Amino acid sequence: MKRFIWNTKEIRRFLRKRTVKCFAAGLLAGAAVGVAAVSLYAYGVLSGNDAASAAVSAELSEENEKLREQIDKYHAARHNTETLAGGDAWSLALVNETHPLDTSYVPEELAEIADGYYVDARILADLEQMMNDGAEQGLSMYVTSAYRSYEQQTETFNLSMQNRLGQGMDPLTAYEETRTSVAIPGTSEHATGLAVDIISTEYAELDERQGDTKEQQWLMEHCWEYGFILRYPPEKSDVTGIIFEPWHYRY
Ligand code: DAL
Ligand code: ZN
Repeated sequence: MKRFIWNTKEIRRFLRKRTVKCFAAGLLAGAAVGVAAVSLYAYGVLSGNDAASAAVSAELSEENEKLREQIDKYHAARHNTETLAGGDAWSLALVNETHPLDTSYVPEELAEIADGYYVDARILADLEQMMNDGAEQGLSMYVTSAYRSYEQQTETFNLSMQNRLGQGMDPLTAYEETRTSVAIPGTSEHATGLAVDIISTEYAELDERQGDTKEQQWLMEHCWEYGFILRYPPEKSDVTGIIFEPWHYRY
């Protein structure tokens, strides 16, 4: 007659057998799923389902490209922060959409050029010299924007967006247009403290005609003598992605 009460040894043996069975079943099921997946994939490829695999491949490539861009930008931002922080090449840091700046970057020493306007202290002497020499030539001009923090750039960008949206522009167009005149936060040279906007007292507008003033004419001709360049000339807009800005000088 069969006993219904097992001793410990019997119970252990039973459990061991069941565990082995479960493990084997799981293994087989897993293998079956794996084989099915590989077969389906092979079927897709071999049976000429090229369109589907090409679509998957294109999607993956696109994702890959996006990731690569993110990684590049991350490295560029770190590189820029290091370049600006010291060494001989600090003034050569390239800051734009593909070479952003760490959003927390602040120049080590900021110096006041005018009421409430600061620049990286390393450019102060040359900037003052340029402004003074211009004044000696009978020119009248002033700095209207200098160092801008990430938050200030965001404010400037949003304000410009708001203006466009207020004119009835759709958000995407407003964004695309804004980024050609106000750098996307994190990509502005103003955050380096090495860029200034200078305008003529006779013409306070930030548009192309600013370039016709005698102040800008003089600056464009002489800024290099003080270490500056006109950063966004009209013939380079397709490269810089920024409209002609006859007021923006970069050290
Ligand atoms: N206006 C220039 C592009 C800037 O915002 O940095
Ligand atoms: Zn500027």
